[in-house]
Amino acid sequence: MKTSPTKLEKLAIHGGNPVRPRLLPYGRQSLDDSDIQAVVEVLKSDWLTTGPKVGEFEERFAAFLGVRHAVSFSSGTAALHGAAFAAGLRPGDEAITTPMTFCATANCVLYQGAMPVFADVSPDTLNLDPAEVAQKITPKTKAIIAVDYAGHPAALDELMQLAKTQAQPTLLIEDASHSLGAEYRGKRVGAIADMTIFSFHPVKHLTTGEGGMVTTNDERLAEILRRFRNHGINSEARQRQESGQWFYEMVLLGFNYRLTDIACALGLSQLEKLAANLARRREIAALYTAAFRDLRVDLPAIVTPAVREDVNPAWHLYPIRLKLEMISEGRGEIYRALRAENIGVNVHYIPVHQHPYYRERFESQENYNESYKESYPVAEDAYDRLISLPMFHGMTAQDVEDVIHALRKVMTYYQGEC
Ligand SMILES: Cc1ncc(COP(=O)(O)O)c(C=O)c1O
Repeated sequence: MKTSPTKLEKLAIHGGNPVRPRLLPYGRQSLDDSDIQAVVEVLKSDWLTTGPKVGEFEERFAAFLGVRHAVSFSSGTAALHGAAFAAGLRPGDEAITTPMTFCATANCVLYQGAMPVFADVSPDTLNLDPAEVAQKITPKTKAIIAVDYAGHPAALDELMQLAKTQAQPTLLIEDASHSLGAEYRGKRVGAIADMTIFSFHPVKHLTTGEGGMVTTNDERLAEILRRFRNHGINSEARQRQESGQWFYEMVLLGFNYRLTDIACALGLSQLEKLAANLARRREIAALYTAAFRDLRVDLPAIVTPAVREDVNPAWHLYPIRLKLEMISEGRGEIYRALRAENIGVNVHYIPVHQHPYYRERFESQENYNESYKESYPVAEDAYDRLISLPMFHGMTAQDVEDVIHALRKVMTYYQGEC
């Protein structure tokens, strides 16, 4: 039974006025004149790609994170592929990862012909649960690929401990596409795992259009990554031009995954704003959490994201979970009602093993894999309840207020005895 539509406002989905006249997206880049100017300067220079801006961006990025090496890639996905290659994943190997992620995290294992094995997530953070990972480790495990879901660092020390106590070399790869600037036990993510991956897609904390980075303290891995993103060639065009050498050798099978100087100039300019962007995201998260904590008295049907004591999240997303038992409709209706209010909510994520490609490939007779018969109850249950609220550093005070208003309006209507 629905509670009476609060003395209140008729929902936009029922023909009432929306909270806002135009859609507020769930994520969006912020670019200013200095970003545009930085790109224009490169466009007028000699090097559009593989020039001086690449090294400069990598160095400044590494310095921000306090890590020895940063190797840029053309996207976060390409960076993940590079990390899977550098970890030595090959056919016959396994990598344990989370189902609660964007599919690129698991796909990089398949690119290498290896097998992604899923382990369920912890109910509070929706990050890989180390106890579940421990149960999935076999002599074939070559890597654990954790994701810092929504910007909250995974249980990195526990996962590292698991990786380092295997008989075979097993690397911890951290997909930090959501967590640039996040801190784990007092350290910024980027220098904790064996390799850490970042994405510079426009909805992230800084953008280069498309772009990605792998950071590592390991010189050997950094060298493999540099070659892999450049066809497997052991020197770069600019080095050869400067030294007057024409000779180069291809020493491994790589790809063209290079990030351009145009993109790196944008990245350098965006890096200047990263601290402010992070601060604003943390402020927005605090405003949401404070508002929804109050609302819990009247609106007990939402759960705000958990934050463990030993982390400072970077808040790429702000995913709430619905207590479906307390509302008269499913997540789909709440989602549609919020969209009708012009709040650009989203859902992160469809668990990876539920995508048709994974089902068809690994549940079929031909490629049958035991682990795909399993279910991942925490991830699957969370998926039914999740709604990501708008979260980007350019949000105004009015934007934040509109989100809170719309959630109150919609949830008050749907919450009730059921
Ligand atoms: C967790 C995660 N991993 C990897 C990626 C892929 O990054 P990109 O879009 O830069 O290829 C994304 C993209 O959003 C992501 O959210």
